[in-house]
Amino acid sequence: MEVRFFYYNKDIMTANELRQKYLDFFKAKGHSEIPSASLIPENDPTVLFTTAGMHPLVPYLMGEKHPAGNRLTSAQKCVRTGDIDEVGDATHHTFFEMLGNWSLGDYFKEEAIKMSWEFLTSPEWLNLDKNKIAISIFKGDGDSPKDEEAKKIWLEFGIPAARIAELGKDDNWWGPAGQTGPCGPDTEMFYWAGKEKAPAKFDPKDKRWVESWNDVFMQYDKTKDGRFKPLAQKNVDTGMGLERTLAVINGFDDNYRTELFWPIIEQIKKLSGKEYEGNEKPMRIIADHIKAATMILGDDRGVAPSNTGAGYVLRRLIRRAVRYGKQLDITQNFTSELTKSIIKIYQEVYPEVEENKKFIFDELNKEEEKFRQTLEKGEKMFAKFSQDRQISGSEAFILFSTYGFPLELTQELAQEQGYEVKVTEFEEEMEKHAELSKTASAGMFKGGLADASEETKRLHTAAHLMLEALRRVLGPHIQQKGSNITPERLRFDVSHPEKITPEQIKQIEEIVNEQIKADLPVHWEEMPVAKAKEIGATGVFEHKYGEQVKVYFVGDPASGTGQVFSKEICGGPHVSHTGELAGKFKITKEESSSAGVRRIKAILQ
Ligand code: SER
Repeated sequence: MEVRFFYYNKDIMTANELRQKYLDFFKAKGHSEIPSASLIPENDPTVLFTTAGMHPLVPYLMGEKHPAGNRLTSAQKCVRTGDIDEVGDATHHTFFEMLGNWSLGDYFKEEAIKMSWEFLTSPEWLNLDKNKIAISIFKGDGDSPKDEEAKKIWLEFGIPAARIAELGKDDNWWGPAGQTGPCGPDTEMFYWAGKEKAPAKFDPKDKRWVESWNDVFMQYDKTKDGRFKPLAQKNVDTGMGLERTLAVINGFDDNYRTELFWPIIEQIKKLSGKEYEGNEKPMRIIADHIKAATMILGDDRGVAPSNTGAGYVLRRLIRRAVRYGKQLDITQNFTSELTKSIIKIYQEVYPEVEENKKFIFDELNKEEEKFRQTLEKGEKMFAKFSQDRQISGSEAFILFSTYGFPLELTQELAQEQGYEVKVTEFEEEMEKHAELSKTASAGMFKGGLADASEETKRLHTAAHLMLEALRRVLGPHIQQKGSNITPERLRFDVSHPEKITPEQIKQIEEIVNEQIKADLPVHWEEMPVAKAKEIGATGVFEHKYGEQVKVYFVGDPASGTGQVFSKEICGGPHVSHTGELAGKFKITKEESSSAGVRRIKAILQ
């Protein structure tokens, strides 16, 4: 392989340049730039992390009005753990950035493809070689016809028919992200990363064709009974992977050679005294996992390692990296050391990682320290358990509870030796011993969004009422630390140093129920972030100021119902009157979630 290094070569495009070019191009085409949303999604019970640029935009794709308009562009922080097993090769990552542009019922197929083509090939923008581009389109099935229109547009741009692959739903269809919701055919753009001349015919299985951009034409709403209903509002949703695109346009066939990873690899080389060549897999896994951990910890809604939810994924990432560090003979704590180069890479674009660096550093240190104490003994125990070439459920449980081995780590160790862990037995064991964390069982790591059902909408409005009631009863220090709403219940984390007493709970319930009874109107207004702050709206204030945000008001003085009860920055959706909550609000549980954070569960009876 020809090894090229970004910092020796002035022809290399940097990540900041590529990101900025993308945003500038779409701004020039009438799009508003929106900031990256948090990595930890709000009000979405089915996913732990933001997995795509479209993820925070789901309510708007379903028809809510976006305050920034109907043409949007962003660079979004994403975490996907679905193919964590593939991390270690040259192109898969747990944390990545997705560049995207959206039309919310504005332009559609033709204009979207034209813009993609212009950005990729125009000398003013990426100036990529047209002879190295290949395309895939949806070939059609019983639900939706072949995307003739997309094909025709690409042919008109001069892409030869042999370079256009026609594929099925597995490849050229996107969404719905959950069970129901917006979806449609997509067209994908590939770039030739091979050193040889690009073949005349496009073979999508040839890995040298790197998929870098996906234009989704959201024209259907998948309904509960599995039908594809044409959407009233047709949208465009596109996603370009920053890391991959940066690599291919600069001629690298390994994403870790780009400036988004190489400084981390350099540090790992130094710490281990080993070369990258020959140690690619462990070094890539460590760089990827500790980068993802740094971004999760450094998020404004960052979480700490734990045995549930996003905290559990974080724990798995850190512990897996520590184990690979041991393989490279790194004997001292090293994960927090790596954050120095990671923060340097991202601090300009995501200043929160610099601001939260103490939290990142301390949590990594604590977690690594804790795991190192048991890792060696755990590995010995694992070797003992595996003498009969299998790991029983109770053995996996001992490794988990006594030695801190996440199930997935035990599974990986077993796989390396060619045998399996009895997962069902392990889960039974967990259930016997404790309240099983939902995350440890399957299903939570895949993508997927909640459908905006009436029940979740009602509980979402109830959450706004409860937050305000909490502030009135416990004090203005109350901050929302996370929320998760299913059709059955709402779960809400707030900053509060001590247990909320039964009397306080009663007061909070009463305040919420009074607002339901008063049937207050709910409406929203859009305004700049600074204005939202000024009027005392609650909510997470994102980093970029001057942005327009939506503020939801419960109660409206103009309607004659008296005072505004709550003001909160939020994307929606909500009911239009609190009377629609139709039921009695009840707090069913109050417990500690982590230091200084209380977790509340509540229902509408
Ligand atoms: N939602 C699509 C994807 O994730 C395009 O943004 O690929």
